[in-house]
Amino acid sequence: MKNYYSDKTILITGASSGIGLEFANQLNEFGANLILTARSKAKLNELAENYQSAIVIPGDLSDNTFPSQLYNEIQSKGIEVDILINNAGFGSIGKLLRSDSVIYESMVQVNITSLTQLSHLFITDMAEKGKGGIINVASVAAFQPVPYMNVYSATKAYVRSFSLALHEEYKDRGIVITAVCPGYTKTNFQNAAKMSPNAVGIKMLPDDVVRQSLIAHKKGKNLVINGLINKIMAHSNRFLPSAITLAVTRNLMKKA
Ligand SMILES: NC(=O)c1ccc[n+]([C@@H]2O[C@H](COP(=O)([O-])OP(=O)(O)OC[C@H]3O[C@@H](n4cnc5c(N)ncnc54)[C@H](OP(=O)(O)O)[C@@H]3O)[C@@H](O)[C@H]2O)c1
Repeated sequence: MKNYYSDKTILITGASSGIGLEFANQLNEFGANLILTARSKAKLNELAENYQSAIVIPGDLSDNTFPSQLYNEIQSKGIEVDILINNAGFGSIGKLLRSDSVIYESMVQVNITSLTQLSHLFITDMAEKGKGGIINVASVAAFQPVPYMNVYSATKAYVRSFSLALHEEYKDRGIVITAVCPGYTKTNFQNAAKMSPNAVGIKMLPDDVVRQSLIAHKKGKNLVINGLINKIMAHSNRFLPSAITLAVTRNLMKKA
């Protein structure tokens, strides 16, 4: 795996915490050149100082002008991105009517629109070169509408669907697009989503999620569901009536 990622230039969104931070740590170990982005500038600068080769371009992906700013800044430095990791994202728990619409608007911008804008911008260069890769972080929530995380689960269904379609379009041009689908993972996600500490589910470690994802991407896979239980959950939806899976999910999520 080391040889595959070493010396590649890899842009990671949401690199300041959780799964994105773990992508940065593991890819640094493999000798990749990193471009780190997120809002937390100080945290990213601190990380970059300790990596072998990393630059920081901070910004807010809920601002729809930031994806093109980020792309232009990378271009102006003469850097070519080999792999884009669209990892930044967030969720929020609660009934739709109890939630501020600003949160949902920015969730759709970060989880869907910015991810799509960045994919479009960078795949243009990758298609010209005839090589490259994109890792899009979706979720097991992409397989099942999740009551009380209504908009979030819909954004992740988009990410999975978009990534699979894109992979089919570009796989013959040397570009691999991998949708990563973790379940509950031990990060700041639950805290940011205002979920209860009693939220159900076995939490995986970002370390395992990222290792599995990098292996799957290297193998040219279009999809990875992290962890056996998550795989079973994702696939069981195909065999059970949606009335049952929705009721079960609703009951589980009420506790969260
Ligand atoms: N943890 C889980 O249980 C779980 C399960 C399935 C899928 N996922 C997905 O995994 C991805 C990573 O989440 P995580 O679990 O690692 O959570 P996390 O620890 O909260 O990290 C989220 C990252 O996204 C960045 N981010 C959030 N809003 C942003 C914005 N407006 N602009 C730019 N960057 C932004 C954050 O950086 P700043 O705050 O510094 O901007 C942070 O680096 C997300 O797409 C999430 O949906 C997580």
